[in-house]
Amino acid sequence: MPRNGLRELYIDELKDLYSAENQLVKALPKMAKAASSDELRQGFEEHLEQTKGHVQRLEQIFEQLDENPKGKKCVGMEGLVKEGAEIMDEDFEDSVLDSALIGAAQRVEHYEIAAYGTARAFAETLGENEHISLLEQTLEEEKQTDEKLNQLAEEINVEANEAGEEAEAEEGEDPERVSRNANKRTRRAA
Ligand SMILES: [Fe+2]
Repeated sequence: MPRNGLRELYIDELKDLYSAENQLVKALPKMAKAASSDELRQGFEEHLEQTKGHVQRLEQIFEQLDENPKGKKCVGMEGLVKEGAEIMDEDFEDSVLDSALIGAAQRVEHYEIAAYGTARAFAETLGENEHISLLEQTLEEEKQTDEKLNQLAEEINVEANEAGEEAEAEEGEDPERVSRNANKRTRRAA
């Protein structure tokens, strides 16, 4: 029998996820610190706690498999975390940076959703029934996080757009635009 069967691939995927989640445990506090919106910061902090739980669920699975979770670096997550760090280095206005952070976080969530979906499908095929529910719980939390980020983006993207318009208007390049923005501000204040 070849060594590299679906079971080996499954264990590889799980090791990859274990590395991904651990990288995220380190990255999320930085993202929380960079966020200006209280809600977004709290969202990152809550997801940090969830992510620590995701690490523990994977450890449970590795214990059942009698395998070591270490030994693989998730290069995909490494790239996503690097992109997030690049965004934080850019000189964006507060709410614009928040929009950028949401975008970076959603890339991470979608990556994890794909990876957990794959791992769950492998667990089903391999008849690892106890793993399925553990993987599903995490998958569900990743989806909920993505949805929460969608909701936060609705408000924060509008704020980011208005902040950009106001900054442009202050530069006074376009007198018409200045008066349009002034009208907008008056309407908002009313
Ligand atoms: Fe996770």
